[in-house]
Amino acid sequence: MSVASRPFLPQDVIRRKRDGETLDQRDLKQFVDGTVSGAVSQAQIGAFTMAVYLNGMSRQERIDYTLAMRDSGRVIDWATVGLEGPTMIDKHSSGGVGDEKVSLIVAPLVAACGIRMPMISARGLGHTGGEIDLLEAIPGYDTVPTTAAFMNTVKDIGCAIIAPTPDLAPADKPIFYARDVCATVESIPLITGSIMSKKLAAGINGLVMTVPFGSGAFMKTEARAVELAESLLDVARGAGVPMTALISDLTQVLGDSVGSGLQIREVIRFLTGEYREPRLLEAVLALVSETFVMGGLAANLETARGIAWQHLEDGSAKDRFARMVLAFGGPADLVDLPERYIRDAPVIRPVYLEKTGFVSQMDCYAIGSALLGIGASRTRPQDDIDHTVGASSFASVGSTMDATHPFCILHAPSEDAWERCSEALTAAVKCSVTPAEPLPVIRSRLSTD
Ligand code: URA
Repeated sequence: MSVASRPFLPQDVIRRKRDGETLDQRDLKQFVDGTVSGAVSQAQIGAFTMAVYLNGMSRQERIDYTLAMRDSGRVIDWATVGLEGPTMIDKHSSGGVGDEKVSLIVAPLVAACGIRMPMISARGLGHTGGEIDLLEAIPGYDTVPTTAAFMNTVKDIGCAIIAPTPDLAPADKPIFYARDVCATVESIPLITGSIMSKKLAAGINGLVMTVPFGSGAFMKTEARAVELAESLLDVARGAGVPMTALISDLTQVLGDSVGSGLQIREVIRFLTGEYREPRLLEAVLALVSETFVMGGLAANLETARGIAWQHLEDGSAKDRFARMVLAFGGPADLVDLPERYIRDAPVIRPVYLEKTGFVSQMDCYAIGSALLGIGASRTRPQDDIDHTVGASSFASVGSTMDATHPFCILHAPSEDAWERCSEALTAAVKCSVTPAEPLPVIRSRLSTD
């Protein structure tokens, strides 16, 4: 029987992948479409993801799979609202502890300089958070507006950050759910398809992203982060979209805080210039500079940094953030009066380590999990999170630890939760007698060029 006339049997596709065969474009398209139409059952999606987890996908399979996921729904055409050209660039991160706030700074900063950033982001699961959880800490912010409202906000303000809409890459939802419950989340081809299909469905013409590694990241080692970045770049090339990937260090918490409300406050303090944690500032400037060079706004990274710095200092990035919050229903005076809207947790106290010396290692997975345990994140997609809890003023690798220097300030829902979480945080940190040298935030750069 010719390939074209072969009837579609999901179990046949699964069997061939299980046996190490290479699937063709038609197999992948039919299977992905079937996850949306119901022709493929949840059990079959789970089995397929396990077959891919065990046998991987070739470069061509990854491209075909991602494009099939992109085409499982609508692909935004910005020309319909009069927006065309090379300046529709998105920013993404494959995820890590404290890393989700970066997008909330980068998007308004690039928008203030003339690049448009339509960002469809995610909620957090497990030890990592997501941009959408942060935005949901802002009273009134609608993270699920219509696609038309999303497009108009990008047109008027230059940036918009929202949750995935049901019409963009809908196949990601059932496949992601199956991965989550079938222990196949870590598969690089499946992560690639999940991330890139949503980005490509948003109709972007460029992508800049960080791929963090370390205890706080999705990818635990630098080698795995590079492997994921290469896979994402292969698909970007296959889709004809320029992309830059920055391999970044998440062996320590990024920035000053973890937790939704606390990170919103940190974003506001960063944009107003009240406090910019140095490693967070470095990550922001690196991402924004890459975006400006890709969008033709600057000839090189150094010039781009200058432009970015100027728009941080003159308050225009802060204004864009305020306008985006207002456009999606948040308070008009959030950046002026964050304490009015972002509530405090009931118990807020510093955590002192029993050990002294210099912070030499943080187990960020354990830190994220300890905070999850008191409500800062979720273990099931349908769970609510507590926007008031988290930790702030984190020490960095190399910081002095003694009876006067706390490791962090813990914001907990109760005394009991504070005690439990404080113990887990203390156990997650190692100290040394001499100061350890922290890794640079950005380790290397890969691109489609
Ligand atoms: N982010 C996504 O959107 N999907 C993944 O699979 C991993 C990170």
